[in-house]
Amino acid sequence: MHATNPTKSSHSAAAPVITIDGPTASGKGTITRLLARRLGWHILDSGALYRLVALAARKHSIPFDDDDSLRTLAAHLDVEFVVDEDAGEVVTLLEGEDVTQELRTETCGNDASKVASVPAVREALLERQRAFRQPPGLVADGRDMGTVVFPDAVLKIFLTASAEERARRRYNQLKDKGLGVTMRGLLDEIAERDARDRERSASPLVPAEDAIQLDTSELGIDEVVDRLWSLCQARLG
Ligand code: DC
Repeated sequence: MHATNPTKSSHSAAAPVITIDGPTASGKGTITRLLARRLGWHILDSGALYRLVALAARKHSIPFDDDDSLRTLAAHLDVEFVVDEDAGEVVTLLEGEDVTQELRTETCGNDASKVASVPAVREALLERQRAFRQPPGLVADGRDMGTVVFPDAVLKIFLTASAEERARRRYNQLKDKGLGVTMRGLLDEIAERDARDRERSASPLVPAEDAIQLDTSELGIDEVVDRLWSLCQARLG
């Protein structure tokens, strides 16, 4: 189940939220999808929103240090998530153009990390993210889901993994897609993004005080999902 294009008017504060935060390539996306599927809940991929702002900025030739233009862009982002039932995936349209593939590139992730450090951008995306909170519940993945966007989440998870393990996972993902990358290059990029995401002043990447931290370096995806599932059972009753 996927929340597509929610509106503010249907925003329900009563729906429970599980937040899954963590650094780049810590497995948040996959884990979030699998857990949400088991629960039958909606998903918020908050990184995609920052990626979309970065893509839109490039498209309109807006520099990443032009805070005012970026704020306007983020506030009026023309985006649609269309569920392709046959392919079983979500197609992302930015200003009517299919950007699903472009959105997942390393360049776009890096650009996203830059626009995400602009406080005005974060502010402009806040309500849009909260509007994904719909019954029966939401699994939200990002950097500040538990600290800023959904501080009242019923369960907060902070996933970590060593930089080497994260680079290895990302390498395999990108290699499968036929995209040319090197381990050294990925390690450098991951270190740079980690530093930017952790050290920025606006909503830095830190675990919420009440988050449960899980190091997934030595764990398979199914093991992580099973552990989170047990935590959910305990919390949700
Ligand atoms: O999760 P991701 O790789 O798609 O995120 C891309 C970038 O967006 C990430 O490097 C930092 C930023 N981001 C953020 O600052 N806050 C979020 N909640 C999600 C992503």
